[in-house]
Amino acid sequence: MSESSRRKPRVLSGVQPSGSLHIGNYLGALLQWRDLQDTYENFFCVVDLHALTVPENVKAAGLREKTLEVAALYLASGIDPARSTVFVQSEVAAHAELAWLLTCVSPLGWLQRMTQFKTKSDVASTVGAGLLTYPALMAADILLYEADQVPVGADQKQHIELARDVAARFNDMFGPTFKLPNPMIPPTGARVMGLDNPEQKMSKSISAPGHAIGLLDPPNVVKKAIMRAVTDTGSELVWAEASPGVKNLISIFAAITGESADAVAARYEGRGYGYLKKDLVDAVEGALLPLRARYTELRADPTYLNEVLDAGAERARSVAEPVLARAKAAAGLGRGR
Ligand code: AMP
Ligand code: TRP
Repeated sequence: MSESSRRKPRVLSGVQPSGSLHIGNYLGALLQWRDLQDTYENFFCVVDLHALTVPENVKAAGLREKTLEVAALYLASGIDPARSTVFVQSEVAAHAELAWLLTCVSPLGWLQRMTQFKTKSDVASTVGAGLLTYPALMAADILLYEADQVPVGADQKQHIELARDVAARFNDMFGPTFKLPNPMIPPTGARVMGLDNPEQKMSKSISAPGHAIGLLDPPNVVKKAIMRAVTDTGSELVWAEASPGVKNLISIFAAITGESADAVAARYEGRGYGYLKKDLVDAVEGALLPLRARYTELRADPTYLNEVLDAGAERARSVAEPVLARAKAAAGLGRGR
């Protein structure tokens, strides 16, 4: 489709198949994606090449199995293949190819400044170079689809700004080639914190019990995690003085029900935390029960899921390949024939 005949603005986003998806992924990313589907032309990929940046993690989990799990969770969350292109990143070769071009125009200092690189390289004993160049691959994901908006949680804003800067730098060096993307961050649920430690972002790579609410956790596990979530030493909610743990529970609640945090907090003001937690268990279960049921159905029918991903990859290639060709031509690669 040419730029001029395009009717809807585009969205692209992705999740790494590197661990178990949690309520932070759901509220920060998937729920937003679901609600954008009618307004945008949508591309949602399972970014398995990104998951390889920490190879130790994927070896343990079984990358292929996780890729299917994440794809099924997209659909179970309400991503509709009739309205959105759902595909696996490594099945569209243009991503890895454009990533090389963008790696070459990404100044080392820009990559070294990324918070996620600094955090992850601090904890790993040996770090592959892919962890550093990861944002150039992410930029390729976005720029290949000429995405207008990239809906993500707050932690990814820095990477999207970098994609924008790299696109602008490429355009300056080689002539206008890429459209500059914008981050789209939800008003609530953009940064869900750990239930066991509200100072730390809820993360797929932390497996401690009680840390996250996993989208596929059984109801009793979800209930236990919420009922044991860290609040503070007080026993009643005082919103004006709420601790990070209490704020986190209120914002999860608000993001799930679509209310404002103030509106949720007003209902529990002056009441014991137990009431808030009990109702939050019900609200979370209300969202996860249908999601789990749909997920189970999808995993029982691998043919359907494979058809969706085959069609998605084909559609993605048809959009990405002309953009890659344009970038290669602009950079003077090959013989131009
Ligand atoms: P990742 O788990 O890093 O693959 O992230 C996948 C998507 O979920 C990205 O859009 C992230 O910004 C979002 N996300 C990850 N962790 C959280 C969190 N704790 N709160 C809100 N959004 C998150
Ligand atoms: N880096 C993102 C994360 O860890 C995942 C990702 C890869 C992504 N490519 C993307 C998100 C493109 C949005 C757009 O969450």
